[in-house]
Amino acid sequence: MDTTPLIITIDGPSGSGKGTIAKRLASEYGLQLLDSGALYRVLGLAALRHSVDLADVAALEALAVSLDVRFVVADNDEGVQVLLEGRNVSREIRTEEAGSVASIVAAIGPVRAALLKRQRDFSQAPGLVADGRDMGTVVFPEAQVKVFLTASAEERARRRCNQLLGKGFDANLERILADVKARDARDTERTASPLEPAVDARVLDSTEMSIDQVLIEIRELITVNKASKG
Ligand code: DC
Repeated sequence: MDTTPLIITIDGPSGSGKGTIAKRLASEYGLQLLDSGALYRVLGLAALRHSVDLADVAALEALAVSLDVRFVVADNDEGVQVLLEGRNVSREIRTEEAGSVASIVAAIGPVRAALLKRQRDFSQAPGLVADGRDMGTVVFPEAQVKVFLTASAEERARRRCNQLLGKGFDANLERILADVKARDARDTERTASPLEPAVDARVLDSTEMSIDQVLIEIRELITVNKASKG
């Protein structure tokens, strides 16, 4: 019997629905979950907390190496709790500011290299769903199922706005759209692991698709992969 962990990677820009899809798949198939964006968000938060200059590459790399972060499955409906130095920062890392700082630290090659092993350690039997920007291209190039999920910037900004309002945060659509575009540019134009589909990824544009429609497509890919293993 083949005991290789099943790895499913979901990459794409922010607001494409990756996080929701990844969570649903992990629970449906009983797999581990890696929200790699949370790792970069926590690092950004740690940099702010320790007053590390965001232009100081060596200091950010050292912070990434020593980062005290833990992902703990919560008993409540919060899902996975993110702990930075023992403190629950699950809410704090979801702010627009944390997202912006995350995309700045994530553009630094040595920082990405320092976080590589931590991410790979999530791959355990029976398997893993990993969402981010470079899961299928750099972190898990061996993944059996790779999806690149995208949507128009306007649609992603609208979703993000509703999500923030739903969580009780303030949200301004115009500002969020500008931020989405700025972050897209930073994520795709950087030289270190830029946001791009893996050559063997299935590209799905979710602008006019529901979550359930996206899930149907991905389940099909998983079924085909399982069938090919015999
Ligand atoms: O998916 P997210 O919005 O939580 O990610 C926050 C930032 O982290 C995003 O601007 C890009 C960066 N990121 C990355 O560079 N590589 C990943 N694998 C995940 C996130």
